[in-house]
Amino acid sequence: MNNITEFSRVVCISGGSSGIGAELVAQFLAAGDQVYTCGRDPAKIAQLANRWEKATANGQLITQIGDVTDADFRAHFIATIAEQSGRLDVLVNNAGVILASGDLEESIADWRMTLETNLIAPFALIQASIQLLEKSAAPVVINLSSACAQQPFSTCTSTSYSVSKAGLDMLTQRLARALGQRGIRVNGIAPGVVNSEMWNGAQALMTETVARRHVLKQHIVTVTDVANAVLFIASAQAQLITGVTLNVDAGYTLG
Ligand SMILES: NC(=O)c1ccc[n+]([C@@H]2O[C@H](COP(=O)([O-])OP(=O)(O)OC[C@H]3O[C@@H](n4cnc5c(N)ncnc54)[C@H](OP(=O)(O)O)[C@@H]3O)[C@@H](O)[C@H]2O)c1
Repeated sequence: MNNITEFSRVVCISGGSSGIGAELVAQFLAAGDQVYTCGRDPAKIAQLANRWEKATANGQLITQIGDVTDADFRAHFIATIAEQSGRLDVLVNNAGVILASGDLEESIADWRMTLETNLIAPFALIQASIQLLEKSAAPVVINLSSACAQQPFSTCTSTSYSVSKAGLDMLTQRLARALGQRGIRVNGIAPGVVNSEMWNGAQALMTETVARRHVLKQHIVTVTDVANAVLFIASAQAQLITGVTLNVDAGYTLG
């Protein structure tokens, strides 16, 4: 095991190949950190590695193709960090999916995959990372939640998604309490509407949701807004912040 890294922090971001995750990769790389990330689509991962060709070549960015719902992949992903860096400073559970819409209309298969991706995989990645996080001087876990976790807003179209993120918020609080004695902070970020692949091109729905919910001048939340908040929570300035899910939602959750 190699415990020496020339980079500032060792950061693991699930789902770094598009949207918020890709911006997180960019901002942590710019901060001089070493970044491990993954995604299922090989083409998107190749594109990310190409975009950051130099960082990939010098070992600052390590990309893997894999699915966080797959236990073997998770074990391999975390084992790579252990072998190459020997510690983990920041774990960002960013990978997430919306698979369907409706209340009773969603299939059990979609419910299962939504919970596997958005809730069980984050828990499993935290569980698998504990020993590496304990080797950090300032370890932190950050879970990407959603405004849709907090109220049954009519603008939140998928019940399974909202429930998965509500579970994630409770996971954040429970693990913040459980891991506080070990010096590990656990927090969440709850964005409002962010223009990303997750919206699957539903431009009209996105615009309407922003108009109805984003009370702050109807600004759409950008990937930069979300990444800025993640980097703040990961920083020493937030060293006593734990168990909190911070809304970055232009007022979505105000009702
Ligand atoms: N966009 C919004 O309005 C919004 C609002 C609130 C919260 N969020 C949350 O923010 C997070 C990021 O979403 P985003 O908007 O940036 O969506 P996105 O553009 O669709 O990005 C999701 C990323 O996660 C990866 N991913 C998805 N499932 C995965 C799996 N099973 N294993 C590994 N990687 C996986 C995707 O790559 P592959 O598809 O190639 O695997 C992609 O890199 C999510 O947790 C989402 O719920 C988004």
